[in-house]
Amino acid sequence: MFVGIDDISFYTSGKYLSLSSLARQNGEDPEKYRTGLGQDRMGVPGPDEDAVTLAADAAWPLINKENRQRISTVLFATESGVDHSKSAGIYVHKLIGLRENCRIVELKQACYSATAAVQMACALVMRRPEDQVLVVASDIARYGLGTPGEATQGCGAVAFIVKANPALLAVDTAYGCHSEDVMDFWRPNHMDTALVDGKYSTLVYLRALVSSWQHYRHDGGQRFTDLARFCYHLPFTRLAEKAHRKLASTEGQSLQGGLLDKQIAASLLYARQTGNSYSASLYTALLSLLENDEDDLAGQRIGLFSYGSGCVGEFFSMQVQPGYKKRSRRALHLGLLENRQELEYADYARLFSYSLPVDGGYHELPHGAAGRYRLAALDKHKRIYTTTGTQA
Ligand code: CAA
Repeated sequence: MFVGIDDISFYTSGKYLSLSSLARQNGEDPEKYRTGLGQDRMGVPGPDEDAVTLAADAAWPLINKENRQRISTVLFATESGVDHSKSAGIYVHKLIGLRENCRIVELKQACYSATAAVQMACALVMRRPEDQVLVVASDIARYGLGTPGEATQGCGAVAFIVKANPALLAVDTAYGCHSEDVMDFWRPNHMDTALVDGKYSTLVYLRALVSSWQHYRHDGGQRFTDLARFCYHLPFTRLAEKAHRKLASTEGQSLQGGLLDKQIAASLLYARQTGNSYSASLYTALLSLLENDEDDLAGQRIGLFSYGSGCVGEFFSMQVQPGYKKRSRRALHLGLLENRQELEYADYARLFSYSLPVDGGYHELPHGAAGRYRLAALDKHKRIYTTTGTQA
């Protein structure tokens, strides 16, 4: 029996800041962001959007009459949690109308936790093949105005259904992990922006890649040359290029003759437009690859590298299933990215500095969400989510 991803969808905020505007404001050459970091735009959430609304917007297109009854578990991966105690998944479970007999939990390890969710979901389905698991990964990347990390902010969510005999991707059992206690990126409980040792974080990322790869190979994983495409965690897309060169050189492989582009370019398209979406980023890369690679990838294997600062890395692989293109939501996702509203720098800075009231009173929140769900109000420190009436 194969277990893996049967359907996948993503969502990002309806607003963005062009990195050319940011470069102008910060006195930087726009090429530094465009070419040096490989980013064009960053998604900017509205005052009534958070990890829950983004996740619900990503998940609802996947839900139908049949799987509504079969989804036994919701795994919510995030590092932008809205409550220290209650899982963000409980709000999503209600918003998209799943059955009551369902287990729900939130998972955290920086940008890595969605991969832990994939492995857990596969194990659950192996145990009970009639069950399905909904995995959602949703994050808002915030570093602070004027910081070096600012150009790598962004937001987005990905949702997917894990089941037996999946229509899109079968997850291979071989894996390779690397964990070590490092302070490359972290966010103390009292802060709403991340702290980061930027250059160091990229070095640890590459070290974790090589170590995870070696463990994956030792575990019986595919050879480099047997993997047709590669998806990397994308804090900024240029890092995938560096990572892929590093992996190829570790294996003594050349990427000449357009091989670098062929193996990673289609996976970078969406993240160039959304910016970093932390836990959702690797799976946004996977979705971007499936929807935009011009070749028929059926039967081919994809290598994936997941990285969460602090740190945990994991290399694993998936095999693309025949007929996978029939499930594509390419037009929906391209429309979502294209139809966003561009913000002036001043509007972005105002939204960035907005913070939710914390006095425990009743507050209706300003409208901004372009999707189907919004955080409508706060009442006695409780979050009240509603639909917007939009079918986006
Ligand atoms: N034209 C073209 N390229 C230019 C340029 C120009 N005019 N000016 C500069 N560049 C290039 C630089 O040469 C550099 O490329 P190389 O690394 O290949 O040399 C690139 O643009 C970036 O320039 P800098 O290194 O000078 O940029 P910086 O110091 O201002 O910041 C950063 C870069 C450290 C990545 C910063 O954006 C940051 O701190 N980001 C947040 C941390 C991060 O994303 N870390 C990634 C690994 S951790 C992780 O993966 C978890 C996670 O999601 C956070």
